Amino acid sequence: MSQLFRKKTVESILAESHKNSATMKRTLGVRDLTGFGIAAIVGAGIFSTIGRASFEGGPAVIFLFIFTAIACGFTAFAYAEFASLVPVSGSAYTYSYVAFGELFAWVIGWALIMEYAIGNIVLAISWSDYFTTLLSGLGIHLPEWMTMDYFTAKNGFEFVTNELAKGKTLEGIANSPYAQEIPKYLAYKDAPFVGFNLVVDIPALLITFLITALVYRGINESRKASNAMVVLKLAVVFLVIIVGAFYVNPDNWNPFAPNGIGGVLAGVSSVFYAYIGFDAISTTAEECKDPKRDLPRGIFASIIICTILYVLIAMVITGMVHYSELNVGDPLAYVFDKIQDLKWLAGIIAFSAVIAMASVFIVFQIGQPRIWMTMSRDGLLPKKFSKLHPKFKTPSFATIFTGFVVGIPILFTDLELVVDACSIGTLFAFVLVCAAVLRMDADPNAKRGNFKTPFIDAKFVMPIVTFFVIAVCATTFKADMADFFTNKPQPTPVEKFVGSLTSKELKDSYTTLNNITGNEVEYLDDYLKSLSSEQYESTLQKLPVYEDKKTEKGWDVFKHKIPMYIFLLIYISMVIRCYFKRTSIIPLAGMLCCFYMMAQLGLKNWLIFLIWLAIGLVIYFAYGYRKSKLRNI
Ligand code: ALA
Repeated sequence: MSQLFRKKTVESILAESHKNSATMKRTLGVRDLTGFGIAAIVGAGIFSTIGRASFEGGPAVIFLFIFTAIACGFTAFAYAEFASLVPVSGSAYTYSYVAFGELFAWVIGWALIMEYAIGNIVLAISWSDYFTTLLSGLGIHLPEWMTMDYFTAKNGFEFVTNELAKGKTLEGIANSPYAQEIPKYLAYKDAPFVGFNLVVDIPALLITFLITALVYRGINESRKASNAMVVLKLAVVFLVIIVGAFYVNPDNWNPFAPNGIGGVLAGVSSVFYAYIGFDAISTTAEECKDPKRDLPRGIFASIIICTILYVLIAMVITGMVHYSELNVGDPLAYVFDKIQDLKWLAGIIAFSAVIAMASVFIVFQIGQPRIWMTMSRDGLLPKKFSKLHPKFKTPSFATIFTGFVVGIPILFTDLELVVDACSIGTLFAFVLVCAAVLRMDADPNAKRGNFKTPFIDAKFVMPIVTFFVIAVCATTFKADMADFFTNKPQPTPVEKFVGSLTSKELKDSYTTLNNITGNEVEYLDDYLKSLSSEQYESTLQKLPVYEDKKTEKGWDVFKHKIPMYIFLLIYISMVIRCYFKRTSIIPLAGMLCCFYMMAQLGLKNWLIFLIWLAIGLVIYFAYGYRKSKLRNI
């Protein structure tokens, strides 16, 4: 059993990395690290996914930005502390090796693949979407079959073919909520036939190839490219804030929180995604001139700069247009495109979104091979992963392998923004890094680095915070709390509801809705999805459908609360721990805030994540456990 939790000492890690860093290039200073941090943070999150978060939460979404920044700030202390203690490239993976031992370290290394490699698959695909839109804006139209993956095109083709067989026309579909299926249909129909219909997302593959080549070529080249991109995207973000401020209409900030706290929290994953990246700079530790001093500074500087920018951007866009208009994939470009004098700015923003995403891509593509390199040095992955290129001094095999891990799924995956998967993997790593600091704090013999998180005893702070939270819940959110703990039946989710209808119920529902709305409702599920939660609940009551199908009860409601109950258990056990063990509030708050955000991500994401971890464990026992350098030491 103890073999599973075998640990590395700080001294042994430093000695090994010293051997290695004698050959890696130490070129990065604090300015480069801050640049890398901003390069990784400002990307698809702020340019795209916050549109939906603002739509759900209204202007109050700025509180979510602030809350998330605070949670990331707490976590940043933990990263900074470890980065100054063990400045090697493995990031959270190495930190857990020191604090918790090998099994946890492997699990974290495996979870980080979700952040970096899977995150980059998402980035490549959404980069391609932005890039093709930008090209069409310039009058260059790529054939559809070059802009998406095979399965997306095939599904769209089957959908449209079915609709045509039902007597619909292409024009009719183009004017329906299913208009986006038409390009997919055309992509499949017009694709060259090479034994199968050749549909390939060429821009996504191209960006993966180019950036992998850049990262392979050298850290210096990657630094120069990423610094240049950061300057450009920051310039555009400043421009958006300054110009936008003149067009803010304060009336748009009213109502401030139209969908209450639930609406604000619906954006957790998107807003957190917008902050992911500051941790990635710790993977360049062995290429820093003075990592113990500069890594903590770089981490804090990048978070603070981005938080200020994000809060200002959120205020500007929710002030320029009414929040209800912001359910779009390119919210920054959208708000400027609406103002006649500022249309030119919308084009610049779309261009800088393409650059911003490319720079996030660079940092993640740098991070993934370096984590694998460190895992391979420990014997948990084959030796090849730690091989350095003789001339460029980068982990060459691991970099090319990352290129394939990102590039191949692009060919066949139709994953939309799997933001949730990327967020849950990253949050999990954050929780464990904070927990690792808590553990070191409790051990008076633990070796510590230059940077030390200020110690504030949680024994006194936790009861006050807990009392305050209970008071707010028992007054302001009394009804929500009662619903939660009494497991109140909930309206059945739209897809499940529509899927459960008999053909007679479906037909009668259309008739009822046509009478209520006075229009012809064409697609029941789309109509129901367009309603707010209150409207949906009252519409359900009016439909002539067997009553039991309209609500979910018992286990069906309870199972979605399991993550939140796990959070509550952890919270209570931490409150108790504070009394028995020396506990520092900053890492504790980081751990609990990140766990809370994980609990908000929903059961489905937890299941996907657990399956991912289970696959990781199988691989560990089949390979790493036997080959680890710590075996039998
Ligand atoms: N924070 C990064 C982005 O928003 C992942 O693209």
